[in-house]
Amino acid sequence: MFAERIKALNPYVPGEQPKDRVYIKLNANENPYPPSPRVQEALNEFDSSILRRYPDPDANELRKAFASLVGVTPDMVYAGNGSDEILSFIFYTFFDSKLPVVLPQHTYSFYPVYASYYNIPLHKVPLEDDFSISIDKLLKVESCGIIFANPNAPTGRFMSLADLRELLTKYDSDKPVVVDEAYIDFGAETAIPLLKEFHNLIIIRTFSKSYCFAGARLGFVIAAPDVINTFITVKNSFNHFPIDSIIQKLGIATCNDYTYYQEINAKIAKTRDWFSCELEKLGYDVIPSKTNFVFVKKTGLSGEEIYKEVKKSGILIRHFNHSGIENYVRITIGTQDEMDLLLNAMKNISSN
Ligand SMILES: Cc1ncc(COP(=O)(O)O)c(C=O)c1O
Repeated sequence: MFAERIKALNPYVPGEQPKDRVYIKLNANENPYPPSPRVQEALNEFDSSILRRYPDPDANELRKAFASLVGVTPDMVYAGNGSDEILSFIFYTFFDSKLPVVLPQHTYSFYPVYASYYNIPLHKVPLEDDFSISIDKLLKVESCGIIFANPNAPTGRFMSLADLRELLTKYDSDKPVVVDEAYIDFGAETAIPLLKEFHNLIIIRTFSKSYCFAGARLGFVIAAPDVINTFITVKNSFNHFPIDSIIQKLGIATCNDYTYYQEINAKIAKTRDWFSCELEKLGYDVIPSKTNFVFVKKTGLSGEEIYKEVKKSGILIRHFNHSGIENYVRITIGTQDEMDLLLNAMKNISSN
């Protein structure tokens, strides 16, 4: 009954959402704060009669609002149903099956899922001992393109713009370099200024993390206008109306309250830095993070042990059973109260 290709599918595994009790959820890098009050107002004012009509297929008002937020022209941005959908279009649009797409060994785990879905070969290059990404290693392989998250996930490490510029300068200018900036708003520096110099740079953003919008599903791609046009052709060959009318309105309200998000994200960064220091005092190794999560291990404990012990206290964090990072856990930064509780739980593990 099913097509042959179904057998080869290896789907993404999202952070768990168990229902056996109420957990503090620090396992999916969601924002612990609510969206701007302007989003609630826009929702209250939404006229349901609009739902009779199809939405604007290109979400043009939303594109304008987002372009103004990030300081580019509207023809340089495009909106998708979460950045996961944008990523799917990226793999379809730019990578073909002759040469591999190159990516770091540890990065967002949906990239290999899309590569497999579209039958694109992958070449993974190891991270350095401190979990930074080696430009030389990325460049060493003959590839059809490069993709990674910056800051990277699940490590939290940031590649400087100087290094990124070096990568773009040395790489083939006809091949895409895709930089997923899902976590850029927690203290890292965006690559948007480099778009003027490098036509092959493609930047991805999501509203799921810094804009408290994970349940709404909204992501963007930022690139040169002709790249965006090709993207629109792909989108129109798959799903003509990816962003519904409600989300287009709420997305605009989000873009119009940058100050609110700047404040909550600065608060998250402050909590992260405090939490990292406290964990170090307890003997944990914490990878320096520019994101809303920290990647952590402790000598003598496996990642799975830390994850299980913390879960007993009613807190969910993420453990990846991947070779090379199996001793680490990834912890989303929540509110100060949530992090106090987690710190207490992690203190108890250390004293076992
Ligand atoms: C690096 C990275 N890119 C993209 C995404 C997907 O985000 P979205 O919710 O917009 O699909 C995630 C989600 O965890 C992520 O970590």
